[in-house]
Amino acid sequence: MELRHLRYFVAVVEEQSFTKAAEKLFIAQPPLSRQIQNLESELGIQLFERGSRPLKTTEAGQFFYQHAVKLLSNAEEIKTMTKRVGLMEKTVTMGFVGSLLYGLLPKIVYMFRQQQPHLKIELVEMSTKDQIQALKEGRIDVGFGRLRISDPAIRRVLLREEPLLLAIHSSHHLSTQAAGVYLSEVEDENLFLYPIHPKPNFSTQVRQIFSEHGLDPKNLKEVREIQLALGLVAAGEGACIVPESARTIQLPNLNYIPILDDFAKSPIFLAMRNMDESEDIRSLFDCIYQVYDLEGFLYDRAII
Ligand code: BEZ
Repeated sequence: MELRHLRYFVAVVEEQSFTKAAEKLFIAQPPLSRQIQNLESELGIQLFERGSRPLKTTEAGQFFYQHAVKLLSNAEEIKTMTKRVGLMEKTVTMGFVGSLLYGLLPKIVYMFRQQQPHLKIELVEMSTKDQIQALKEGRIDVGFGRLRISDPAIRRVLLREEPLLLAIHSSHHLSTQAAGVYLSEVEDENLFLYPIHPKPNFSTQVRQIFSEHGLDPKNLKEVREIQLALGLVAAGEGACIVPESARTIQLPNLNYIPILDDFAKSPIFLAMRNMDESEDIRSLFDCIYQVYDLEGFLYDRAII
């Protein structure tokens, strides 16, 4: 006996006629009658009074009808609930490097939550390098980072190149150069780099920018995190190179000035598993570009 048999039987009882039930079920009457006969032979009882007009159920038929209706309604419930559970449990876990929290990450995640209310979105802070392993192990679904780390299993999409700024004390002579400074002008400054661990990280990237352009900063000091670096700058101990989005961190006497070298940029990448064709990731890209449009950022849209 299959659910189909119950559906046919219930229709015949409710319509009190094989002809009307067949119409309702969009099948021909002979196969419908055959299915009911098969059901009766399987149960070894008569479900309808023979020759009754309109059609009437036997006592056993009435009992069977009541339970068939319940079973069909349970089956319907299971179907809708399973669909809902499937939707409710869809989770997108995003790895991100801490510095992105000062920029657009909160805005992007908030908008994505609004646009995809059925998705559970989880955020996990981790270095770009750790994101690669986490993607491969399925612990995260996407990773936002700043480093060009390559791996054959991972697809990396450049979202944009974020300009770098110099954070400097308001009393420092470079603070008067509101239009900006070149990195060659800060080679002799005390420069705080962050973070210390894990390598490679943003401090590795800043060192590379200097070395790839023949610059030799004399006094580099690594500190644990951006807040510490900027606190020391505000205390007048030196300067620090930060992504533009760090401008949201404000302290007394802390000034930010543009860096004029066009290579002074920090890329922002989105990494995902090579084979991941998920619709959710496509929607996340759409959401990122919507935020860029709202903020007036220039970007080359990646084809995914
Ligand atoms: C951005 O600032 O461009 C950005 C930050 C986090 C995630 C995606 C993009």
